[in-house]
Amino acid sequence: AVGPVTNLEIVNKNIAPDGFTRSTVLAGGTFPGPLIQAHKGDDFRINVINQLSDTSMDTSTSVHWHGIFQHRTNWADGASFVNQCPIPPNDSFLYSFTVPDQAGTFWYHSHLSAQYCDGLRGPLVIYDDDDPLADMYDVDDASTVIMLSDWYHKTSPQLYKAIPFTPDATLINGLGRYSGGPLSPLAVINVEYGKRYRFRLIGASCDPWFNFTMDGHNMTIIEADGIEVEPVVVDSLPIFVGQRYSVVVTADQPVDNYWIRAFPDNGPQTFDGGLNSAILRYAGAPTNDPTTEQGPYVLPFDEGALHPLSDAGAPGIAEPGKADVNINFVTGFGTVDEQFTMNGVTFVSPPLPVLLQILSGARHASQLLPNGSVYELPHNKVIEVSIPATELKPGGALGGPHPFHLHGHAFDVVRVAGSSTYNFVNPVRRDTVSTGLQANNDNVTIRFVTNNPGPWFFHCHIDWHLHDGFAVVMAEATSETAAEEHPPDYWANQCFST
Ligand code: C2O
Repeated sequence: AVGPVTNLEIVNKNIAPDGFTRSTVLAGGTFPGPLIQAHKGDDFRINVINQLSDTSMDTSTSVHWHGIFQHRTNWADGASFVNQCPIPPNDSFLYSFTVPDQAGTFWYHSHLSAQYCDGLRGPLVIYDDDDPLADMYDVDDASTVIMLSDWYHKTSPQLYKAIPFTPDATLINGLGRYSGGPLSPLAVINVEYGKRYRFRLIGASCDPWFNFTMDGHNMTIIEADGIEVEPVVVDSLPIFVGQRYSVVVTADQPVDNYWIRAFPDNGPQTFDGGLNSAILRYAGAPTNDPTTEQGPYVLPFDEGALHPLSDAGAPGIAEPGKADVNINFVTGFGTVDEQFTMNGVTFVSPPLPVLLQILSGARHASQLLPNGSVYELPHNKVIEVSIPATELKPGGALGGPHPFHLHGHAFDVVRVAGSSTYNFVNPVRRDTVSTGLQANNDNVTIRFVTNNPGPWFFHCHIDWHLHDGFAVVMAEATSETAAEEHPPDYWANQCFST
């Protein structure tokens, strides 16, 4: 069934989410953008209307639905110059796709240059009416999204010219404070004593990862990146850019206010004055700031301890380097031109989207632009990709740990950051993984099956790094793409309108 069309207007607006006013690019005029909610199996028809006019930032746009597989709708994946041409100002673009078999916590964001750092990011939740873990929580509603983001007082084009720079504030659900700023309102998560909540945490940052904690409360992880996991209890949780978790939290502490903390690895390094914080408020507690203390933390997060609820298991021969196709990336950073490289090549946007090139007859990496950044993958094969941890030696990929995201898939992380062993039996399956911060020769290894034809972006999700070319395109099953992918006429027309 074709669902109703939702309009999503992209606008410029002056807002002051941390008390400092700046011009922004927003979805629906708010930060974060409106929560898009659906139920498993629903169709999406989202009409993105570009009303941008502030020429101090990008005035074109495109929107990516992070984590949605887009089977046979690669054209609707939203990455500018990979899946579509950008939407010019005063124009609109209808994203139409189905999500037959995914549920959980996702998000959407601009996928043009580093535009989402100027604001265009929002939550997307797909409910599962037959959630196998539903008996673990009583309450799972729209108010329980907790979206973490960094925030800057300058626009992204200003920041490109000001390297190095750090975020001015952390925003939780679009509210926060900056060092030396006013006591701006903080986000409040309201709970009732005795109830159990599913909190949907979204790492919607441009750069930092956050160490997420809630004073006095443990968290039971039940979902990672849209895939339910066997429950694991933690009291601190690192959330890298692009990642999501659902955690179950029981409101079993005395009625009071408790600090929620999101400590960034880059940005203001203190909780003083309510920085990097939000408030967990029990019904009946006064409307004060909390006075709770952090820690002690005794239940640390271990990515290797996350296992999918379904008995997934990694595809292919259970030995490293023994997939059908094995790709070992070398990553780097040129200190002169400040561009990242993957296997020696910096990604630069091609003149026409990779999908349009394929639909126009190009089939092989040698024919596809950008030259050297497109990897042609055969259909229905097991692919293994190995990515080094941040290389600490000169010339290594500075600015890590780098969170890598693959469009169109979830992948099995057969070797997680910081581990020297492989798990092919029940590895965590997700769409964004941190490659960690170890010494040389460590790597993170993922596997996936090429069952989703189309060109898919694979990139560091630190948006500044993507802007600086830290990306490749996995051109999966190009002949099947040409045969099966049928974009609407307006999709190609957009590339040729003036
Ligand atoms: Cu969250 Cu390439 O995207």
